[in-house]
Amino acid sequence: MSRPYDPRAFWTFFKQGFSKWDQTASPLPSQRFLVRAMVDGADAERARTIVELGPGVGVMTKPLLARMQRDAKLFTFEIDEPIHDELVRTVRDPRLHAILGSAEHLKTLLAEHGHEGPVDAVVSSLGMSLIPPEVRDRIMDAVAEVLAPGGVYVQFGYVHTRHFVYSTARGFGGFDYHGFLKARFDRVTRRAVPLNVPPAYVYQARGPRAR
Ligand SMILES: C[S@@+](CC[C@H](N)C(=O)[O-])C[C@H]1O[C@@H](n2cnc3c(N)ncnc32)[C@H](O)[C@@H]1O
Repeated sequence: MSRPYDPRAFWTFFKQGFSKWDQTASPLPSQRFLVRAMVDGADAERARTIVELGPGVGVMTKPLLARMQRDAKLFTFEIDEPIHDELVRTVRDPRLHAILGSAEHLKTLLAEHGHEGPVDAVVSSLGMSLIPPEVRDRIMDAVAEVLAPGGVYVQFGYVHTRHFVYSTARGFGGFDYHGFLKARFDRVTRRAVPLNVPPAYVYQARGPRAR
């Protein structure tokens, strides 16, 4: 695994996490075991093209690149400019196409950055439990449009969100990641990652279904 965290990038993520809670969904970047489980789920060694949604300051971006082939491509979509800038500053790799923009516009932005055709894997760290329902539907529609028929969608969700989430816009609630993904994919598997703060599940989903 790569060097854990660049202090300036970590601080930027922490600050943005506090000031834009619903968007960032955590003040702490994912840690070692969660990062490994996400990267394992992406079949990165075999992929020609991977999309990463919500890369933050790159804790998964670097290990993904380390596993990817030399002529593969990784497109990241980050909505927060200071966080995106830290990603660009700290992760230098010619295979990386770091895009500042919302995952909702995935297909258009990929085309604008020269990529046509399906992608092999989508690795998402988006805090779906806090993203407004209409936005997360648009994101998942865009994912279904770009993911190859045999491709894989990897998403993590914190264990507690099933019963407890706090959104600054919508207050307290809960979010069922498993049900959310089961409604959109033919096959969904789940792996627990207890050694993360907070503990998380990593979901691997295949067979995107048109809604
Ligand atoms: C929970 S953080 C994950 C960051 C990092 N991948 C990690 O695991 O530590 C979620 C990230 O998604 C970004 N984000 C939120 N909504 C987004 C959207 N619609 N499109 C792209 N990025 C988004 C946030 O700014 C934040 O950096």
